[in-house]
Amino acid sequence: MQQDEAHSDEDVPYYEDVSPGSGALPPVAWLPGSDARRLSLNGTWRFRLSPTATTEDEGFARPEYDDSAWAGLAVPGHWVLQGHGAPAYTNTGYPFPVDPPRMPDENPTGDHRYAFELPADWPAGATVLRFGGVESCARVWLNGTELGHFKGSRLPHEFEVGALLRPGPNVLAVRVHQWSSGSYLEDQDQWWLPGVFREVELRQRPEGAVRDVFVHAGYDHRTGDGTLRVDCAPAGRVTVPELGLDLATGESATVPVAPWTAETPRLYDAELATPGERVRLRIGFRTVAVEDGLLKVNGRRLLLRGVNRHEFHPAHGRALTADVMRRDLLLMKQHNINAVRTSHYPPHPAFLELCDELGLWVVDECDLETHGFAQQGWRDNPVDDERWTPALLDRARRMVERDKNHPSVIMWSLGNECGTGRGLSAMAAWMRERDPSRPLHYEGDPSCADTDVYSRMYADHAEVERIGRRTEEPLRDAALDARRRSLPFVLCEYAHAMGNGPGGLSDYQRLFETYERCQGGFVWEWIDHGLRQETADGIPYHAYGGDFGEELHDGNFVCDGLVFPERTPSPGLVEYKKVIEPVRIEAVGPDTAPGAVRVTNLQDFADLSALVFPWRYEVEGRPVAEGTLAVPPLLPGESAELKLPPPADSPPVGEALWTVRAVLAEDTAWAAAGHEVAWGQLPAGPRPVPRPLTSAVAPRRGEGGTIALGPGVFDAATGVLSGFDGRAVTGPRLDVWRAPTDNDEGAPWQPGQRCGPEWRRIGLHRMRHRTDAVVAAGDALIVRTRVAPAATALGFRVVHRWTSDGAALRVEVAVTPEGDWPAPLPRLGLRMGVDGDLSAVRWFGGGPGEAYPDTSAAARVGRWALSVDELQTPYVRPQENGARIGVRWAELRRPDGTGLRIEGEPDFFLTARRWTTEELDAARHTPDLVPGDRVWLHLDHAQHGIGSQSCGPGVLSRYRLDAAPATFAFTFRPAE
Ligand code: GAL
Repeated sequence: MQQDEAHSDEDVPYYEDVSPGSGALPPVAWLPGSDARRLSLNGTWRFRLSPTATTEDEGFARPEYDDSAWAGLAVPGHWVLQGHGAPAYTNTGYPFPVDPPRMPDENPTGDHRYAFELPADWPAGATVLRFGGVESCARVWLNGTELGHFKGSRLPHEFEVGALLRPGPNVLAVRVHQWSSGSYLEDQDQWWLPGVFREVELRQRPEGAVRDVFVHAGYDHRTGDGTLRVDCAPAGRVTVPELGLDLATGESATVPVAPWTAETPRLYDAELATPGERVRLRIGFRTVAVEDGLLKVNGRRLLLRGVNRHEFHPAHGRALTADVMRRDLLLMKQHNINAVRTSHYPPHPAFLELCDELGLWVVDECDLETHGFAQQGWRDNPVDDERWTPALLDRARRMVERDKNHPSVIMWSLGNECGTGRGLSAMAAWMRERDPSRPLHYEGDPSCADTDVYSRMYADHAEVERIGRRTEEPLRDAALDARRRSLPFVLCEYAHAMGNGPGGLSDYQRLFETYERCQGGFVWEWIDHGLRQETADGIPYHAYGGDFGEELHDGNFVCDGLVFPERTPSPGLVEYKKVIEPVRIEAVGPDTAPGAVRVTNLQDFADLSALVFPWRYEVEGRPVAEGTLAVPPLLPGESAELKLPPPADSPPVGEALWTVRAVLAEDTAWAAAGHEVAWGQLPAGPRPVPRPLTSAVAPRRGEGGTIALGPGVFDAATGVLSGFDGRAVTGPRLDVWRAPTDNDEGAPWQPGQRCGPEWRRIGLHRMRHRTDAVVAAGDALIVRTRVAPAATALGFRVVHRWTSDGAALRVEVAVTPEGDWPAPLPRLGLRMGVDGDLSAVRWFGGGPGEAYPDTSAAARVGRWALSVDELQTPYVRPQENGARIGVRWAELRRPDGTGLRIEGEPDFFLTARRWTTEELDAARHTPDLVPGDRVWLHLDHAQHGIGSQSCGPGVLSRYRLDAAPATFAFTFRPAE
């Protein structure tokens, strides 16, 4: 046979044809609480992997087939995470040739078999076999009879199997192809993870059971009434005992209700009874509308404090347990997050149940992305090719039908990054017709022709401000422009949380609070998709793109979340929590001694009655007095100014601060009483100016080419401090280098200068030091140096002026840049090495977590104590981290209590680690960081901001560290 005959274009195999599949039942609502029987088919299945799609015939589907040589495989699960093949990560590039709908012969195919017993009392009649999600194409047999095939990985598919089931042993066989035509529609930025990754189950369907149900539960904020209508096939009755409702399906009833909102997720338990089934419903009454140019729920504008959430677990990929879903939601609620975009596919339906219960606004996104076509100018884009429209509509239907009964879902999203096309319009038209109660979202079409909100990703602050004023760049089409200008605005992605960052969150939040059109957004993204691995020596770490031998990959771009892979909060999440806090607590009155506090309720629906407001008065970080502030139960948007009790110790000895916190008065479903929701700090008096040390001793020549000054010993040739208080030290010397963060490195497609590459070009990672003078001038030792990279005339003149009162040593540093610096500096300060056993750190200043100039909202002034190891932030790809901001003084101690104290004039950024910046910069994964025998201290006068240029705007000008003359001082003392 000739090649041409074997593969004519018309004759593509089922997994490559553009159809959504064959044989499956029409999509219906997800109904978890039913009295009809269910049988879970999750468990250990038998599994065999083939490298191509066509290696063997379908004989394996016969019940009697001998699979004893096959491996065991956990279902739900991905075979590539269970020792068969490997995961692969690409962002936008398809990991196969772009030749839709075809796939290469290399198409890993997993044959699955599961033998199960049907309980003897399983009723005869209809039974549905349900797959919650299979990536990417499955062909299914039960007891040797083929049922059909399907595509649409993160969507459910059901088959009628009643006639095929038999009492006792049954065998389900599923052939899963990693690649299919569906893969062209699933080019989301994530790991490619084939397999049966959501549950498989049998659902008995009694005669007269619910085929489908659509709950319509609106709320009229003017009357306080809810209107309920439950459409069901077949007809039945609905009862809502709490509301005294008992009505026929299809009939409406209007009664006073408490509405559902994300802040007050009030659900009413209901029961739907049809002749064959009783189903539990949980009803939330709310009305979503776009009116007056705003997205409103129950008549009020929303402010979305959101995140983009992918389904991810570091060991199980997208196979999540209910516990993991709940953990995500509890963490979100505890961090003031009120919205989720289910990027970029419908999540497990149990997740939406939890959103209903705990209260989150959800943008439910369809399983659709064709981003890889952008590389060819969107030529052949499936969303603009009507042959693919049935597949697109199938995806739209499977999402809307499954999820239509969740009050938490307030918008449907057509998909992500598909460009534009007729297929998208067809999806939008179908969704509007089927569910007119929810607005539509899609970011990829700037004209917004099919959507009800104007959505963008990564727009910079200046552009968001223009959009807020409705003065954005016009579209060419005047009618479309006028329409778009009238729409509410959301950032469906912003603040790229890759590595250290994102910076600039507060600045976005200010815009959202200033311009009513700007209704907030969704940080990209919730979790780092780092896969759990171990080194040969058993050290755990997380892997990213390229770690599995992928030919094509996008490295650690897959690690850009607010939580680390194991779901521990990163500093970015702590910052976000502070920035989006639903209550603002701020000083009123003069900056230095306000004496009063303004409390503002920034929620959209709830008053403040769930919160209490403890205050504390501290001097030098030590508590002096505390109490509770009586804050009235302010309504949304209201403020009150409240007096704080006058300090008992005026004038205080040291720096005095009020801290007022808003904490939960009682336990909630998502946090215990006492959980902190918001806080504010205000000075209780002017900040004391540090007393400069009075010099009392003069430098003198010591032994062996040294100079002694008080507790310090200097190298007479270089003027570098080599000993302090009888211990060897290295440095301190001027340092401007930091191990570039992902945001420093920037993305090639982002506008603006990319600092990381520019810093390396200039040579900031290989500075040379020259000593120009080491001279005694009265009581002072003056050391002049020039610090500069090779191959350029750029550099810094540095004058160090060392003095001592006999017990302590003070250095005043004056830095003057030379040359025309083409880029901001990473940092400006001193680096010094001290004994490795100085491992316990205490400081007075910003903390407890990491903070940089544009990530500092969450740093509060106090006395903090952490070990050097605890100061590190374990970014999946090591990079600059761990600075503490606004440090007035710090002490590093040995286990025996001796140590070093450092005081700053002015306050400084403190960083301490067991490896050098060069080692940090060279590390690719966390186990590459091996502690040395020194602690490296960075005492920085300034740091450059962080920004979010890894996929967004760079550092705002007010957080830039430009090369400019600077002076600062540090005093070193033996710790007492
Ligand atoms: C967006 C995309 C996301 C993710 C992000 C960068 O363009 O929608 O899926 O790739 O950029 O991390």
